[in-house]
Amino acid sequence: MGFLVGLLLAMFLPAAAPTSQSSIPLYAQRTSPGDLEIGGELAGLPAGATRYLHYDDLLRLPQETATITDDNFRAPTRITGVSLARLAALLGKHADMIVAICYDSYRSNYSPEYLAAHDPILVLRVNGQTRDRWPKAPSGDRLTPYVISHPPFTPRFKVLSHEDEAQIPYGVTRIEFHRGAQVYAPILPAARWRGNAMVQDGYLIAREDCFRCHSSGGEGGTMGHSSWIDLGNSAARDPERFRRIIHDPSSVLPGARMPGEPGYDAATLNALVEYFRTFASLNIASEPVAERESKP
Ligand code: HEC
Repeated sequence: MGFLVGLLLAMFLPAAAPTSQSSIPLYAQRTSPGDLEIGGELAGLPAGATRYLHYDDLLRLPQETATITDDNFRAPTRITGVSLARLAALLGKHADMIVAICYDSYRSNYSPEYLAAHDPILVLRVNGQTRDRWPKAPSGDRLTPYVISHPPFTPRFKVLSHEDEAQIPYGVTRIEFHRGAQVYAPILPAARWRGNAMVQDGYLIAREDCFRCHSSGGEGGTMGHSSWIDLGNSAARDPERFRRIIHDPSSVLPGARMPGEPGYDAATLNALVEYFRTFASLNIASEPVAERESKP
């Protein structure tokens, strides 16, 4: 049974062209593996409710088109789909922060600033083709059920050697609508660290990079398994090993799936160490590193 959100007016207008609907039916149950699950804070629904959108209904919303080249589409590709900001305005209670969750527990967080600057698109067609005809990702993974991509991407900021990075997940199964502050709260540096520039830089980098696969307080991806506190303990216990993992994970963890950041310079790696150390369990963080290393 569908539940219509959006302009009530739309219901009284004559059947519009297939790409100009201003509402979309929400379903209480999944009816196909290709449905898009939505959650978080949904307009008109109690917190924590989950609903499902049908691919065919998404295709009836107004569509954006862009020609792009990115990590998922290595040759110029025409993508068509619904802008995430439009979906948020239609379905979200606050239309503020969007979280995309993937079948491999990777997730992308889209802040209000990111949405305004980059206008990401929930891709529904690739070179005009519906998804039964999509190519695989360059890794060989399937791109379906949903991919998020961008009109050509211009980085907004640079923190040390980390540049604002396109958040272009594939295999997206669920989208959540939240308040930005709530999503970032579990990884904010504690008040006494807010004046520390290194910790603050590390926070901004970790928020856009590590948080896609490592989690804290129920937010962030879980593909990396280790939580923010685990990473904090690793950074405090052995900063050199921690820096090497970020730079080139497979040099420390054979067969690592974590992508390396060979472009991060020493200042960037140190900022990440300083930031994560603030999350270590107290007994480790309070012990000076040199002292611990000299123990037999
Ligand atoms: C695309 C997903 C992904 C991203 C992004 C990512 N990691 Fe990981 N990370 C993993 C996975 C998966 C593992 C488990 C080992 C493996 O298979 O690579 C891991 C393991 C680790 C480990 C070793 C385990 C531990 O607790 O000591 C550390 C340290 C780590 N990550 C730090 C980071 C930091 C810091 C960042 C951000 C600069 C980051 N990771 C970004 C996926 C990711």
